[in-house]
Amino acid sequence: MRILVTGGAGFIGSHFVRSVLQGERDGISDASVTVLDKLTYSGNRANLDPVASHPGLTFVEGDICDEALVDELVPGHDAIVHFAAESHVDRSIAGAKPFVVTNVLGTQTLLDAAVRHRTGRFLHVSTDEVYGSIESGSWSEDWPLAPNSPYSASKASSDLLALAYSRTHHLDVVVTRCSNNYGPYQFPEKVIPLFVTNLIDGRNVPLYGDGGNIRDWLHVDDHCHGIALALTRGRAGEVYNIGGGTELTNKELTGLLLDACGVGWERVDYVEDRKAHDRRYSVDITKISKELGYQPRVPFETGLADTVRWYVENRSWWEPLREKAGL
Ligand SMILES: NC(=O)c1ccc[n+]([C@@H]2O[C@H](COP(=O)([O-])OP(=O)(O)OC[C@H]3O[C@@H](n4cnc5c(N)ncnc54)[C@H](O)[C@@H]3O)[C@@H](O)[C@H]2O)c1
Repeated sequence: MRILVTGGAGFIGSHFVRSVLQGERDGISDASVTVLDKLTYSGNRANLDPVASHPGLTFVEGDICDEALVDELVPGHDAIVHFAAESHVDRSIAGAKPFVVTNVLGTQTLLDAAVRHRTGRFLHVSTDEVYGSIESGSWSEDWPLAPNSPYSASKASSDLLALAYSRTHHLDVVVTRCSNNYGPYQFPEKVIPLFVTNLIDGRNVPLYGDGGNIRDWLHVDDHCHGIALALTRGRAGEVYNIGGGTELTNKELTGLLLDACGVGWERVDYVEDRKAHDRRYSVDITKISKELGYQPRVPFETGLADTVRWYVENRSWWEPLREKAGL
């Protein structure tokens, strides 16, 4: 299988590429991968170092909005796995334009090229944030979309565009909507690596509002497992939720991170809440479990402990990124 992976130098995309090339993804063997990545602030070639010399890897630095480049790259691939996006909610509140450009126009550019060149499968990586916020119960895939941040609104737009191309142009589209990912190589602006690297550096951590916002945590390897199942066996035109099965308030998560780093609550600063901060996310994973046999495999305690250890042992990876991003 020849796969074009957009955003393959980012956190989740690079995990997917490393695991595909290292033969760790069920149903995908002898694959070659072309990574198309603009190397924005969150994209990092070093994330692909473990497979840099793999003969199946081609890296192209470029923008998914570049129609000519995309048109040149798409032919010759059996599938596109589309991770590339602006992905940080706080940045989208400060300025939404790059989110609309990359997430909406970039996705449309890729979809058009996939239609022109009759690409086999287009797997669009979406997010559970497109559903909005839910007080109780969990979202199934047919839940109405009600995004609240510019980030999630741009992801909802691209998610709907992908599904519209499936109906209008009969493009073989599958959309996945996952919960909050964690694991190694995550850019240190996101909550788990931000808190861990702050604590390692002797700084305090900023906890939004009352800390009562609830997130479902999904290990990045479980996410990539779900993506591989949806890519190889998902039904065309369908949406699959992917979750991790561990719901925690941000305060509970903070407590676990403080414990893991051996420090106390005096290291927590309560800060003003994020605007329109979604209270709770919760995905129902019945569909992907029943149809494709997906179950999260990484126990949260083990995944979190391994992740904290990875940041402790890989200061040389995150320190320059933090400095460059002014964190
Ligand atoms: N991280 C999460 O918890 C999470 C949860 C749900 C969904 N997602 C989705 O998963 C995908 C990957 O997220 P991530 O956490 O790995 O993000 P990330 O920010 O770590 O990686 C994004 C990658 O896309 C690249 N990129 C950005 N704009 C580009 C452009 N115009 N052209 C080409 N490349 C570009 C960046 O350089 C980077 O390598 C995104 O679509 C995101 O919306 C992430």
